This record gives sequence, structure tokens and C-alpha cells, in this order.
Amino acid sequence: MTAVGIDAIEIRTGKLQLDLPNTFAPKKGEDPEKYTKGLGLEVSSFPDVYEDIVTMGANAAKRLMDRKGLDPDDVGRIDVATESAFDHSKPVSTYIAGCLEQVYDGDFRHANKGERKFACVAGTQAIDDAYNWIRAGRNRGRSALVIATDTALYERGDPGEATQGGGAVAMLVSEDPSIVELSTEQGYGSMDETDFLKPNQQFPSVDGKRSVQVYLSRMREALEDYEAVAGPVSVDAVTYAPFHTPFPGMVRKAGLFAYRHITRNSPVEDELAAAIGRRQPRETDYDSRDAYEEAISEYMDDLKEADQYREWYAETIEPTLGLSRVVGNWYTGSVHLARASALRDAADRGLDEEFVGRQLLIGSYGSGAQAEIHSETVRDGWKAEIEALNIDDQLASRYDLSFEEYEQVHDVHDYDKSVDVEEFTTPEAEFVFTGWGRMNERTYDYVE
Ligand code: HMG
Repeated sequence: MTAVGIDAIEIRTGKLQLDLPNTFAPKKGEDPEKYTKGLGLEVSSFPDVYEDIVTMGANAAKRLMDRKGLDPDDVGRIDVATESAFDHSKPVSTYIAGCLEQVYDGDFRHANKGERKFACVAGTQAIDDAYNWIRAGRNRGRSALVIATDTALYERGDPGEATQGGGAVAMLVSEDPSIVELSTEQGYGSMDETDFLKPNQQFPSVDGKRSVQVYLSRMREALEDYEAVAGPVSVDAVTYAPFHTPFPGMVRKAGLFAYRHITRNSPVEDELAAAIGRRQPRETDYDSRDAYEEAISEYMDDLKEADQYREWYAETIEPTLGLSRVVGNWYTGSVHLARASALRDAADRGLDEEFVGRQLLIGSYGSGAQAEIHSETVRDGWKAEIEALNIDDQLASRYDLSFEEYEQVHDVHDYDKSVDVEEFTTPEAEFVFTGWGRMNERTYDYVE
């Protein structure tokens, strides 16, 4: 069977940044370490006045197409995953295709375009759709462009405000891919939940503490479901485990649960028993659910401090958080940033051919709620693709907002407000938002 997977990735960050410990925390009267140590965040990215989900997505897609030498005819499908859409009917992919058609010869007239919605898991679902389309033999040799783009804003004053972000990840899904092959096996954990939702409103209604528990529960179910088809996941088989990262502290919790799960009944559990003084609690050994849960919680406290766990976390999870720490939550793009962070770490560590064939365990999650686990196998073009990213330059050139400027930028991207704010950066060789057309559609131009 021909391999199908991710052939190219491009990342586009919003061009503004908010320093959380130094600019945001003092205005909130909070300890900066709540952000850096508790949530694990340093900086959030925000779009400038002339940027939005369309420009960020189109700019990422253009760099990807230029770098891969693609024409519109090479793309048979454009799917955008977003939870920041401004139109209930016309998909964001049509706006992005319209932008790209301004600068390429040819058009996307024969490409299937759509928009995927299921909170943050939609980016992975769009990749799955592309995979299925190619596997079904309907692609006519063409690739799919999947773009995860969001402006992840919360209501001012909501606890989620600390975890905001804005940016896009464009991915090309193809046969014989350069970066990773996707596993056919997938596991799901899916339930009707009201942890985070946007019922006809731009900013989410959030039950923050509960959303953390829902994330952990659905991820556990997805992992169990994945193992039911793919067999048990072992500690040694997984080189990196990129998870959806609303903030790194969330993944710190998820990593601990995942480790407990994958070491249970394995030789590692016996090694750990020597360090911790006992094996994992089994529910059958306790008289009540409460007693069992208390024993689990005590075991987890000890597990967290065990050398074996700390080493595994430092190698397998921590490297996936690099980009998230300095951009915040990008909703649909977040797990794809985690994958990119992992691959960047492998390149920084000087890995090359020995990394080919290694496995990533991808944990995607969307509120509402659904988790998906699948695995990916690294392909031999991974390094050249990852080294072609220019995200470091983009991050370094972001405009650093004062708190008062951040307040203005939040208003600019509030669809219910109309404010006149000067742009903070100068557009150059990129798509920009120019205003509204006769039917209230958003309009865009390419600035040389
Ligand atoms: P909060 O209540 O302001 O924060 O909001 P907290 O008091 O719980 O503190 C956060 C952490 O910092 C805690 O760590 C504190 O102990 C620690 P933990 O105990 O949890 O390990 N802390 C400190 N550490 C060091 N020094 C200090 C200090 N002070 C505190 N001085 C909350 C937290 C997550 C509720 C909030 O950020 C929120 O509502 N976020 C939005 C919802 C969210 O991100 N949920 C995550 C799971 S749901 C999800 O991932 C889906 C999502 O991406 C949407 C989608 O799918 O579309 C959100």
C-alpha cells in the first residue's frame, strides 16, 4: 500500500506578541510564575490589524506552494479547519483559494473545498478526510491542502484569556509523503460535553476546570480505542508524543496519565515499583471507588517524581511544547505545532536517517468533546522539510504589545466591534485584509 501522510508543513504566526509574565501578569495582579511555571506559557501571538484567519492561512499556504513548486492544478482539495469562522455559509477555504488565485496562474476550480468544525480536533479530522480521499483513489494524483487557522480569543477577564493565540498551520497531504506517514489505525474518545462551546457567539463559554477533566477522560478513551486496533503502546516504541496543547501545563497532566497507562502491566511498571515502592493500584484491590481514586492520586504524586518518568517526559513530551510556549493556543493548529516542535527538536539534536521509521503518537483533542489518537511514522524527507521552516524569523520579528495596545488588538479582532486602530507592523509580500465588499464579505489583496 502506498504511504499517505504529510508531505510539507508551513507555519504562520500572527505578527504581534503579548509577553505574559512581564506585560499581562502585572496588569492582572498575578504572579508571573503562574504563567511560566503553572500554565507553561511565555508569550501569546496575535494577528495585526490587517491579519485574520484568511490571511494567516493563505500566507502559510502560499509559502508552502512556492517552496514545493506547486500550481493550483496540483491541489485537488482545500480543507480549512477553524473555530473562528466569520461566515456561517461560505467556507474560509473559498476565501483562501480566492487569495491564492490572485497570485498564481490557473485556479482551484476543480478542487473540492470545505470547512471542518469540531473545536480543536478539526485540523486532524481534515487530515483524516484528505487521507481517506487519497486512499479511496479519488485524488487523481493530486494532493490535499489542509489549513488549520484560528484567532483563539477569550472574553476579556475570562481565565482562558491567559491562553490566547493566533496563527495558521498549512499542511500538504500526499501519497509518498516526505515528513510522516499516517497510521490507518485510529482511536476515538467522543462524548456530548459542554466544557467549551460558542453557541452563535465569537468568544467561548468555558467551564475551564471541567474542560481539563474532559480532555483527560476523552484522551484516555481514545488511547484505549487505539490500542484495541493497533495493539498496546509501549514506552520504547514512541519517540515523541505530540498532544493538543491549549497550554503546556495541560499536556504535563496528560503526559503523566498517558505514562501510567502505557506502563501498566509492562516490565517498566516493575522497574518503577522498585523506585516507588509499589505497583499501580488495581480497582479490584479496593473496597470503594473513593479509596481506589485516593490510591491512584498518591501513586501519581510519586510517579511524577520517579527518574524513569522524568526522563521519559523530558525526551518524549517536553520537546513537543517548544512552539506552544511562545505562541499560545492556536486551537485547530495546536497539535500540528506540537508535531512541528517535536520534529524541530529531532533536527536540533542532530538526528537524521536514524530518525526515519521512528514513531510519533499524536493526541488530538477538541472540546465538545472528542479525542483522536493515531500514530505517524517518520519519512526520509523529514529533515529538509523541517529545516525549511522560517518560524524562528517570524517569532523574532513580532511586534511586542504594551497592555493598552493588547486591549486595542483584542477589540480589532472582536467581530462585534468596529474600531479604528493603526497597524503595528508594515505588510510586505503577503495577503492582507482590506475591508468589506458589497455583500458584507471580507476582502483581501496581495501586497508586494
Ligand atoms: P486559572 O483558574 O486561572 O488557573 O485557569 P489556576 O489557578 O488553575 O492555575 C493554573 C496552574 O498554575 C495550576 O497548576 C496552578 O497550581 C499553577 P495545576 O495545579 O493545574 O498543575 N499556579 C502556579 N504555579 C507556579 N507559581 C504560581 C502559580 N499560581 C498558579 N504562582 C484554566 C486555568 C485552565 C481553567 C484556564 O486557563 C482556562 O479556562 N483555560 C481555557 C480552557 C482550556 O484551555 N482548557 C484546557 C482543556 S480543553 C481544550 O484543550 C480545548 C480548547 O483548546 C478548545 C477547543 O478544543 O476548541 C480550550
